[in-house]
Formats: sequence, C-alpha cells, structure tokens
Amino acid sequence: MNYNQILKKGEIFLKKKKIKNSYLDVELILSKVVNKKREEIILNTNNKLKNTDIIKFKNYLFRRYRNEPMAYILGYKYFWKHKFLTNKSVLIPRPDTELVIQETLKYLPIDKSKKILDVGTGSGCIVVSLLKERPKCRATAIDISIKALNVAKTNAKLHHLENKINFINIDIDKYKSYNYDLIVSNPPYINSIELNRLDNDIKFHEPKLALSGGSDGLRDLKKVIFKSKKLLKINGKLILEIGYKQKKQCIKILNDNKFYINKISKDLSGKDRCIISTKLQ
Ligand SMILES: C[S@@+](CC[C@H](N)C(=O)[O-])C[C@H]1O[C@@H](n2cnc3c(N)ncnc32)[C@H](O)[C@@H]1O
Repeated sequence: MNYNQILKKGEIFLKKKKIKNSYLDVELILSKVVNKKREEIILNTNNKLKNTDIIKFKNYLFRRYRNEPMAYILGYKYFWKHKFLTNKSVLIPRPDTELVIQETLKYLPIDKSKKILDVGTGSGCIVVSLLKERPKCRATAIDISIKALNVAKTNAKLHHLENKINFINIDIDKYKSYNYDLIVSNPPYINSIELNRLDNDIKFHEPKLALSGGSDGLRDLKKVIFKSKKLLKINGKLILEIGYKQKKQCIKILNDNKFYINKISKDLSGKDRCIISTKLQ
C-alpha cells in the first residue's frame, strides 16, 4: 500500500465516525508513523509503506476513531510560539488561553524581574510561554495532579526553563508562599451541565480534574481568588481565564474580595474569557 492509498482509506474510515478534519488527521498520523513532515508526505504520495508501519498507522487511526484527540495521539500541541508535550494527564492547551498570555505580558515589563505564580499549570503552557517572553522573571507553578506536574516539568526542560520555575504538587487551598507580583490561572471552570454536553473528544479523554469546576463551575475560580488575596503583594495582579458566562459572578467575587477590575478581554469568538484584576488591600 502506498501513502495515497492509506490516506484515502484512513479518511473514509474517520468520516464514518464524523470526525472533523479527517484528511488532515490521517496525514498527521501518517507523518508520525513514517517520521516525515506533512509536506514530504504530500510530495511523495506514491511511496510504499512497510507492513510494520501499516500496523502502527491502524493503531493510531483506531484511537482517533474512538475520538481520542490528536494532541494525545501525536503527543504534542503548539501553543503561543512553542511546542508542548501532551498526554492524557493534562488539558490540551487551547487557543483561548493564548489570550491570557497576551494580556499577562502587558503587566510584565520586559526589563523587570517579577515573581509569578501559575495555579493549575497542567502542561505548563502558560508559565513556560510567559518566561520565554520575560527571561528576567521567576515563577512557581502548582498543580494538584502529580502526573500533570511531571508533564509541565518536562516541557520546562524542553524549553530550558527548569532553573527558573519551581514546580509544586499541591492543592491551591494548602499553598502558603507569599509576595507574588502576579498570579495567573486557568482553573477548571466548566459546570456539571455543560460538562455533559462537551464534544466526545473532550468529555471522554481530557482529565475531569482539569475541566470540572463543580456544579456551578465556580468552585476553583473562588478558591484561586480567595487564596490570591493572601498570596499577592498589594497592587499585585490576578489574571484569570473564565467561562464565557461567568463574567458577572467573577466580578462580584473579585469585588467582594477587594480586587479592582482592570479589564475583561474577549476571546477570538467575541466571548468574555479573561479578567485582569488588582489586589487593593
Ligand atoms: C483547565 S486546566 C489548565 C491547564 C493549563 N494551565 C492550561 O491552561 O492549559 C486546570 C488545571 O488545574 C489543576 N487543578 C485543579 N484543581 C486544582 C487545585 N485545587 N489546586 C491546584 N491545581 C488544581 C488541574 O489538575 C489542571 O491541570
């Protein structure tokens, strides 16, 4: 069988399961199997496949057929300007979260050395992207999941930041280190009803711990806000990714906890996605 034949068969197979972008997915799977760039595959569609590669291809294809996200099958995802290793212990970095990076960088002057805390670091995509842009800063990244934290550590090493980020496996509720200039967090914020309505790719494959924010979706956002009140310096910034219907409730919780709202930013689809606030007292 050659590349062209296996790509066509693979596409038909995934289409039966209504997998979106099925041709792109089979191309990416083939490029992983034969260890060649997608462009090389496209230019060499008459190349023949070894039997061992056909078996590998089928295994990956079945995983995709069962709705496993491509980022877990391929083992990586691009986020901001970098490649991040991903596995089923971590949330797949999302384009929406790039807005958090864009906004946070505005509060981190390039020539200043600021102390940052990333709460619920997951793959480490936020803290690594920030420190790549702001080499004078230092950070702590915490996560309740040891498996996620190990992925974050690997990503920090991959990007030569292992000496600038302190990784701690802890629940935000129990964390007690003070004087941060800036706290950033993309906590789990999906409520129980929306959790059931998620696409199968997400619902059956991404970690619940990274998605579920309890019955109203606000459980972890509240935890991060309460704790940030203690952990931040006065005038320190708290930057949160939120669910698009959570703006009003989050503003109230922040105000009740003496945070001033600097800005609310919308994501690419025009939904409220990021709140920037300042600890006043
Ligand atoms: C939505 S994911 C965000 C991952 C990553 N920061 C990103 O933006 O892609 C939330 C992360 O918070 C972690 N987490 C959940 N509850 C936590 C808690 N109470 N304390 C610390 N981390 C928590 C989860 O394990 C998960 O990795």
